[in-house]
Amino acid sequence: MAAVGLLLAGCGKPVPSTGPGTPPPTGPGPGPSSAGGDVLSKLPGGDEFAAGKKVYADNNCARCHKLGDTGGGGPMGAKGGPGGMNGPDLSSVGADAAHTPRWLADHVRDPKAHKPQSRMPASGPDKIADADLTALSAYLASRK
Ligand code: HEC
Repeated sequence: MAAVGLLLAGCGKPVPSTGPGTPPPTGPGPGPSSAGGDVLSKLPGGDEFAAGKKVYADNNCARCHKLGDTGGGGPMGAKGGPGGMNGPDLSSVGADAAHTPRWLADHVRDPKAHKPQSRMPASGPDKIADADLTALSAYLASRK
């Protein structure tokens, strides 16, 4: 169970970046991060959501969330681990009428605003730019 503990502990830390002080790649152009590559190719949804899917993959949302065939495979799976860090399955997150793109964007920016107990890390504009957040939330809202 040591591996589980390590993974759970690692979940609360920021995603390792390319170096201290290096901002994560946002905006257009190839970034140094390829961590989300496998997730990106497996995410459900059409090409019209390519931008949103990339943001989802690049920000390691699949580390805690299942969405289609991504996430949920390891100890951080969708069933929920002892640490309570695992997020819900997002495969049909848009089916709830309350989950408008606006709500979803707000949740990614500041999960605690909706759920004070949330263990999900907030992603400010330094992590996900406004345009990327719009693409991400449109993508999530389309998952029904
Ligand atoms: C460290 C684990 C973790 C990461 C990384 C993470 N989440 Fe979460 N997420 C959670 C947990 C735990 C919840 C349940 C509590 C809550 O609603 O905030 C949650 C809830 C959510 C919800 C609300 C779902 C619902 O039905 O209420 C959305 C939407 C969401 N996450 C999207 C994302 C997106 C998009 C990313 C990537 C930018 C992400 N999450 C990254 C842990 C995580």
